[in-house]
Amino acid sequence: MSDSQPSLARALVTARRVAVMTGAGISAESGVPTFRDADGLWEGRRPEEVATPEAFAADPVMVWEFYDARRANLARCRPNAGHRALARLESIVPELTLVTQNVDGLHQLAGSTGVHELHGNIWRLRCERECGVDREDRRVPLPRPLPPPCPCGARLRPGVVWFGEPLPPAPFAAAERAARRAELFLVVGTSGVVEPAASLARIAHSAGARVVEINPRETALSSVAHDRLRETAATALPRLVEPGDPSP
Ligand code: OAD
Repeated sequence: MSDSQPSLARALVTARRVAVMTGAGISAESGVPTFRDADGLWEGRRPEEVATPEAFAADPVMVWEFYDARRANLARCRPNAGHRALARLESIVPELTLVTQNVDGLHQLAGSTGVHELHGNIWRLRCERECGVDREDRRVPLPRPLPPPCPCGARLRPGVVWFGEPLPPAPFAAAERAARRAELFLVVGTSGVVEPAASLARIAHSAGARVVEINPRETALSSVAHDRLRETAATALPRLVEPGDPSP
């Protein structure tokens, strides 16, 4: 860490423009498995087997069973102190942009608004043929048989971005713009190995932002971080956002 936490906290709450990018680690303390840690979602499984358009074309029932099980797990999870601290930060920083790679919707449940979801949202279902149907459905489990039918006659697919697919342009454009403008860029709970999301921290760094990493472990983005807080999100974020409040 190149700076003391009190002055970092001061820099955060007095900045005019802050961008935050979160990954699976911020939801770990809510009980959501990460992808690449031990016992992570991808551990022992090749992502291509369940998270690609090819997998869906080959075996849509298997892919939907995987996502339906993830939804059932997520339905039991609640936002943690890290999510809540970021929601509070919205009322402190004049221009806060929250970008997430997560599909769990926990930032919104914590009260964050205008979240830019780079990898979609698991609670949305959309038409595989892009007829325009794209709706929220929080039923757990989803009614059988899977896959859910689209009114147009095609099948609905999970509203997430799969490997090999482009990111939704609008959230990425907003995220890139925020990375270029930010005085402070927080990278929270991501291994930083999935592009183009990972490039945002490098963009912010090149544009002159103070980059702060919150992650118990070294990551692919640690080298661009000016401050590296080797703590969990639910510990570090509340302390940064409300330095006087020691509660978790
Ligand atoms: P990863 O599983 O790759 O990384 C999770 C990171 O969170 C690791 O660096 C952990 O050290 C860290 N971590 C674990 N617990 C933490 C805690 N309590 N507080 C803070 N950090 C913690 O997850 P992502 O980087 O989010 O994409 O993965 C990026 C993308 O890869 C995902 O969005 C997903 C996946 O394939 C798609 O599905 C398109």
